[in-house]
Amino acid sequence: MLPSIIAIDGPAASGKSTIGALLAEKLGYVYFDTGVMYRVVTCVALQRDISIADERAVTQLAEQTKIDFLPPAINDGRQFTILADGRDITWDIRSRAVDGNVSPVSAYAGVRRAMSAQQRRIGLQGRVVMVGRDIGTVVLPEADLKIYLDATEHERAQRRFLERVARGEQVEFDAVLRDIKRRDEIDSSRSVAPLKQADDAIYLDSTGVDISHVLERVMDIIEERASRPFHNLQSEIINLK
Ligand code: DC
Repeated sequence: MLPSIIAIDGPAASGKSTIGALLAEKLGYVYFDTGVMYRVVTCVALQRDISIADERAVTQLAEQTKIDFLPPAINDGRQFTILADGRDITWDIRSRAVDGNVSPVSAYAGVRRAMSAQQRRIGLQGRVVMVGRDIGTVVLPEADLKIYLDATEHERAQRRFLERVARGEQVEFDAVLRDIKRRDEIDSSRSVAPLKQADDAIYLDSTGVDISHVLERVMDIIEERASRPFHNLQSEIINLK
């Protein structure tokens, strides 16, 4: 039997969303990128001039903002259309300002409570690939397959840098690398649901490996697991090179 709930966790720009979306498409599953939810709260807070340091106000915003994921309405490279209270903010949530403020927002316990509850409800419906930082550890510890996708800081910064250049933004590589390091530090050291590999997750390092190869390897793992369903509870490190 194929795993029904698949969790992919890992640091910023490790390739989780690309792999997650391709995998979901291949399996005919729902793809759910949980980072989007934290980005929406951060984006709306910035747009409304709510101080990111004001935990109460930001938490209230997380509890009240209606977030919708829709199929991509416009053909501009988006994976889906994202609405906050009915407003399309698909690209706004990818801005440098959001990148720079999303980690502190996602460290607030009340924000996480509001977001995790919704994520868990969606995940438990099954046939889902859910991508984030704490899916295998906190949101869906019962996931049938957990992948922890990693890559070196330098490689991840390079990927983010190229994405931004492709979008026509003026950016410097060193600034992107600094942002990535700062986010990793906050995401891994926060007290609530820090970024961490689950004990039973498979570790994949995608440094220097192209996406199609990573996807192939994940499909191999899924097929192998489907043929021996009870071999499941140990962490494994898979070398992709
Ligand atoms: O994956 P991303 O870069 O879009 O995530 C944005 C931020 O949201 C990231 O800095 C950490 C946070 N996040 C989280 O804390 N838990 C998740 N499940 C997903 C993302």
